[in-house]
Amino acid sequence: MPEHVKIFEVGPRDGLQNQKRLISTEDKVNLVNMLSNCGFSHIETTSFVSPKWVPQMADAAAVMAGISKKSGTAYTALTPNMQGYEAAISAGVDEVAIFASASEGFSQKNINCSVEDSFARFLPILERAKIDKCKVRGYISCVTDCPYDGPTDPDQVVRVALRLLEMGCYEVSLGDTIGAATTETTHKLISSLLNHLSKSVLSGHFHDTNNTALENIVVCLEAGIRTFDSAVGGLGGCPYAEGAKGNVDTVAVVNMLHDMKYETGLNIENLNKAATFAQSLSET
Ligand code: HMG
Ligand code: MG
Repeated sequence: MPEHVKIFEVGPRDGLQNQKRLISTEDKVNLVNMLSNCGFSHIETTSFVSPKWVPQMADAAAVMAGISKKSGTAYTALTPNMQGYEAAISAGVDEVAIFASASEGFSQKNINCSVEDSFARFLPILERAKIDKCKVRGYISCVTDCPYDGPTDPDQVVRVALRLLEMGCYEVSLGDTIGAATTETTHKLISSLLNHLSKSVLSGHFHDTNNTALENIVVCLEAGIRTFDSAVGGLGGCPYAEGAKGNVDTVAVVNMLHDMKYETGLNIENLNKAATFAQSLSET
């Protein structure tokens, strides 16, 4: 039996949040619905963040209201604080994600607070989510490099990862926010993490600025990691990390995994249709 690798599709959120042209709610809903036909267990559908900070995600509740949910798929969203969490739950999100940074510079620029203060903001989310029986995923940005602070010490990523897990996150997604990770820095990072926590709670989240995402995923696969984030059509980037290109393309990851004899449960034909549509949305 081929081994399963889980793909966490982040296109509707990470792929669209940084698009210059304001994409209509209808187009976002259509993209999510197309992705629902591909077989994903998780689709990161939107984010409940400040519309002043990320105008592209201002219609988060309308997107959630418009989509046709498929059973077996969790429709997830980013929530930076309780205001976002409450809005996400009211909108019918199945699972939320909090997002911390391994570096101070990016934390300040992205969520307007220090790394330590971000934990204080996240704690009430985790407490409430426990009562609501809502799963919480944790992101760590800038796991190897920060656009403001330079190279990241793997020990700092370990500290943030352990903190997120202790607080109740079920999984930690390792964000190479600016796509600067190399096979060497990825290997060093994963080795440090695996001294302290299990490979089963980690996901790789590589942006593909330097076309190194696939080889970094291979490094993670060799270390036993079996969950990866990707965005259909290779769209994406963070408004607070200038120069950060798209996420690694879901189709490229799935094709590589299938070539390596892993199984993803994803339908390539439907994925290609969704990719063509996603790319049309990113054209100015
Ligand atoms: P702040 O300005 O410090 O927040 O922003 P505040 O609490 O002072 O509130 C200011 C205003 O925002 C108030 O409105 C609030 O109501 C509103 P006003 O009174 O001025 O009219 N507000 C909200 N509105 C809607 N939903 C909310 C919300 N919270 C406050 N949840 C804040 C702090 C965290 C809100 C802000 O910095 C923010 O929204 N940042 C999000 C940035 C973002 O979304 N970045 C991209 C996602 S992260 C990423 O891409 C990386 C990742 O992919 C992994 C990787 O690649 O590394 C995950
Ligand atoms: Mg990202």
